[in-house]
Amino acid sequence: MKPHWILTALTGLAIVFNAEASVSIGVASIGIVGSALYAGFDRVRCAFYECCSPRSKWTKLNVTALNLAFSENLYGQHLVQTVVPRALKSHLGQDQPNKALVMSFHGWTGGGKNYVARFITDSLYKLGTRSQYVHFFVSTIHFPHKEQSDIYKLHLQDWIRGNVSKCERSLFIFDEIDKMPVGMIDGIKPFIDYHENIDGVDFRKSIFIFLSNTGGPEITRLMLEMWRKGKSREEITMADMEHLIERGAFSEKGGLHKSELIQHSLVDFYVPFLPLERRHIEFCIRDEVKRRGLKGSKEFIKVVADEMTYFPPENQLFSTTGCKRVSQKVSYHIANEMYDVLFD
Ligand SMILES: *[C@@H]1O[C@H](CO)[C@@H](O)[C@H](O)[C@H]1NC(C)=O
Ligand SMILES: *[C@@H]1O[C@H](CO)[C@@H](O)[C@H](O)[C@H]1NC(C)=O
Repeated sequence: MKPHWILTALTGLAIVFNAEASVSIGVASIGIVGSALYAGFDRVRCAFYECCSPRSKWTKLNVTALNLAFSENLYGQHLVQTVVPRALKSHLGQDQPNKALVMSFHGWTGGGKNYVARFITDSLYKLGTRSQYVHFFVSTIHFPHKEQSDIYKLHLQDWIRGNVSKCERSLFIFDEIDKMPVGMIDGIKPFIDYHENIDGVDFRKSIFIFLSNTGGPEITRLMLEMWRKGKSREEITMADMEHLIERGAFSEKGGLHKSELIQHSLVDFYVPFLPLERRHIEFCIRDEVKRRGLKGSKEFIKVVADEMTYFPPENQLFSTTGCKRVSQKVSYHIANEMYDVLFD
């Protein structure tokens, strides 16, 4: 018999006990025993499954897991590595945060935005991306038609309200927010504003993450400027990036464009993802090969890295697609039976 069958059966039994208690005072003693049993079962159930309760483990961020995921899978993003854990720690550390946490990820494609969103999910929730408390929206899939933005907005509000009523520590991730119909995002403003509660629901413990490619060109321009001055990538600070944010670089067209979220400063952290360099691409290739249980030679890594495109044309500093297409390229070369190169 599988543990969850036993649990379900026992939980059922406990509910029967509870029901009896409320019906008849005569069997109060059974009721008390029932409640105690039920509390016990609840704890067991939370240990096996997922629960949204302060007791349950996931309300504490596993910083070790997050940092480990970063160091093993994320390359060239020193700003992300400092800002994200700090933002999460400070929000989750408060019993009564004064607003929901909102982070907006920006930058060139393939820089690791989706990866980071997944690492956050995994380090927060026991079931990771499969958790019922994590909600993932992709604009082009969930909100494809501009003319229906009013309907989407209402649905989205219902979903957020419904889900946060079920669990205050819910996580909402919006991918391609720049492709969301203009104005729609304002529909979620009430939920991330400084309100103690709306119709009895407290939204301040929830977390919102926005992902978009906006700001990519500006980030790159800034990096080229630094490079010309002979500064290293790691010397770029959040303060350097803040100038870009002030100039509105991160809110170009669509999604966040002219949104109330920006006008009212409701985004807590703008997190810039820097364009990747060839050395970072090589790390990604190495990891991809390793993931397939093979050992990539320097030669193999070079062959794949050579196939990626780099810009600007003069010095080919950055990869146009980051690590995004590395997986396909690696598969392609392995399928082409370049084993001699792999195992030299
Ligand atoms: C946190 O993550 C680390 C690394 O994945 C793991 O070894 C540890 O058990 C986790 N801690 C908790 C409390 O889940
Ligand atoms: C929670 O959000 C999902 C979308 O992720 C939606 O389908 C579901 O209906 C919502 N639940 C409630 C109770 O509103």
